[in-house]
Amino acid sequence: MGIRKAVFPAAGWGTRFLPATKAQPKEMLPLVDKPIIQYAVEEAVNSGACEIIIVTAVGKRAIEDHFDSSFELEHALAKKGAETLLAEVRAISELAEISYIRQKEQLGLGHAVWVTRNLVGNEPFAVILSDDIIDSEVPCLRQMVDVFERYGGSVLAVERVPRSEIGSYGVIAATKIADRVYRVEDLVEKPDPADAPSNLGIVGRYILTPRIFALLGETRPGKGGEIQLTDGLRALLREEPIFAYEFEGRRYDAGAKIGFLKATVEMALKRGDLVKEFAAYLRRLDLPPEQ
Ligand code: G1P
Repeated sequence: MGIRKAVFPAAGWGTRFLPATKAQPKEMLPLVDKPIIQYAVEEAVNSGACEIIIVTAVGKRAIEDHFDSSFELEHALAKKGAETLLAEVRAISELAEISYIRQKEQLGLGHAVWVTRNLVGNEPFAVILSDDIIDSEVPCLRQMVDVFERYGGSVLAVERVPRSEIGSYGVIAATKIADRVYRVEDLVEKPDPADAPSNLGIVGRYILTPRIFALLGETRPGKGGEIQLTDGLRALLREEPIFAYEFEGRRYDAGAKIGFLKATVEMALKRGDLVKEFAAYLRRLDLPPEQ
């Protein structure tokens, strides 16, 4: 059956990265030399979802330009004989079929997903939050598609999160039904750590059935005055089973400064063209004493 379509909410202000995001989308910040959102689009494509829907807003033009073909640049690279770069730049515009839709008001993640209802139509689809970069052998979304095909309901990616950080996540109450697979019993958006129903936090990968759209249309603002996807899922749970999947792989929260830095360092260390010199540099660093 598979999943053909993947929705990428990318309309947020990126306030955690100001001033870098004052005049450029946070999705375009590079990890080494590739913008954050490209990692996520590649993950979707490598998981079989080749129809990409990006939810944008004012100030996000650079995302469209990035995935478009750039005649001038390609011409200049060809003239210089920079064949490898030329192929790389071309490949980006051929990666997937991408549609863009504007979220006119930033009313929350649930609303950002809801605005794609006509583009997605009546079929199960993926939602990818590109802030969460997941480095894994099998793409995270591909792992989730396998769970979806086996269990036949919406699937949320989850990870065990330290108690002190659980208040930054949607959190599930769930029963384990197989290795890494849970049946969701309840969900709560960013609970007080003392009230969190578990330490299983939702990370930015979802496979959703299209019923979610009608329910998001009726979802009232919740935590932070925003229309929360988690609240829409809670309504969905009353009608359909929802599963959670503890994915295999390493996640970086590239939407936070510390996560972005960790991702940058670790990704650079995986790069054949950089590892030798960069590792030598890190080894020589005179680090401040632990506090
Ligand atoms: C969103 C969701 C939250 C989820 C998180 C994963 O929150 O609302 O349920 O756990 O993404 O990254 P945000 O990080 O956008 O505040």
